[in-house]
Amino acid sequence: MRNLKKEIEKIKEELVTLRREFHRCPEVGFEEKETAEKIANYLKELGLEVKTGIGKTGVVGVLTGYGPGKTIGIRADIDALPLEEQTGLDFASRNKGRMHACGHDSHIAIGLGAAKILSRYKDQIKGKIKFIFQPGEETLAGARAMLDDGVLAGPAVDAIIGLHNWSDLESGLIGIKKGPIMAAADKFTITIKGKGGHGAVPHQTVDPVVIAANIIDDLQKIVSREIDPLETAVITVGTLNAGTAYNIIPDKAELSGTVRTFNPEVRQFIIKRMEEVTAGYCQGARGEYEFNYNDGIPATVNDPDLTEEVINILKASFGEDKVIESVRPSMGGEDFSLFQQKIPGVYFFLGTRNEVKGITSSIHNPEYLIDEDILPTGVRAFCEVVLNYLL
Ligand code: NI
Repeated sequence: MRNLKKEIEKIKEELVTLRREFHRCPEVGFEEKETAEKIANYLKELGLEVKTGIGKTGVVGVLTGYGPGKTIGIRADIDALPLEEQTGLDFASRNKGRMHACGHDSHIAIGLGAAKILSRYKDQIKGKIKFIFQPGEETLAGARAMLDDGVLAGPAVDAIIGLHNWSDLESGLIGIKKGPIMAAADKFTITIKGKGGHGAVPHQTVDPVVIAANIIDDLQKIVSREIDPLETAVITVGTLNAGTAYNIIPDKAELSGTVRTFNPEVRQFIIKRMEEVTAGYCQGARGEYEFNYNDGIPATVNDPDLTEEVINILKASFGEDKVIESVRPSMGGEDFSLFQQKIPGVYFFLGTRNEVKGITSSIHNPEYLIDEDILPTGVRAFCEVVLNYLL
């Protein structure tokens, strides 16, 4: 009878050391050279078959069991953020303007720890485990780059799991949910062209600032007046640029923002209405426009059957009270969703909030901390799921 809990507690110190090493040397998307090298070396030492340069700076390690069976993927994202760390930790970032403020350092340590533990079960595993260390999650370009390089082929991956450390959830809890758990995240830019002139003679101009103001106001009404209140959507205008002086009416205004949704139909409806609203205002006010909408990434949607299986496994190993089913989803985006578009996948949250230890700040904050006690929990969650899936 295996006792994963005990076994993983024994490597806790190593997990902490690993996490701190990666924390000290954060690298942003597609610059993860040192990070990738360390990961590759660790996996090679475990005897895994390792490939580097998958999706530019991604690393893939394959653990082959004793006989034929399914292949399961474990995905860990490895990139940091362009942010100056302000934690004051003695293992704080040594790379200026770079910080593991999304806790991906913990994801790497958990992925490597899972590889270490699972490699001990090689003789019992039917099938294969593919450890996918993904670059550039923050830029939402890493998963796509790895997919373009065939990360889910040779061996073909049947299912994939991934996690994120989660500051909204108490340390030690696992949050999971069937269906959408993170939102689709898109970007848009709207350029409004008017006719510039003196601020004192608006009647001789077409003022793009006033048109932009109306459009921004009306974009909010798409969410409040046109979307079913039981659906979820966000339209945020994050930048608005126009003008050079207080007494000049500029000839153009540019705004950009993001749209977050869970339901693809709502997403399509919003895109259509955003352009219609823009076109309508511009026509009425004698202006012109350019509307650019970039489909960023789809929503992270957990496969219902596989999620059911994972929930049962996690409840059996951690206890019913440790697994928060139907956790509150996030409007954040996660390019894990692109893997899920190809194969069934489950993404879950690993709670790291710990008020006693003063760990309360949220991800992407320069003072972000994680509770290192979650490292063994993450490793165990991955190991339990994989062993139950492949044995
Ligand atoms: Ni993250």
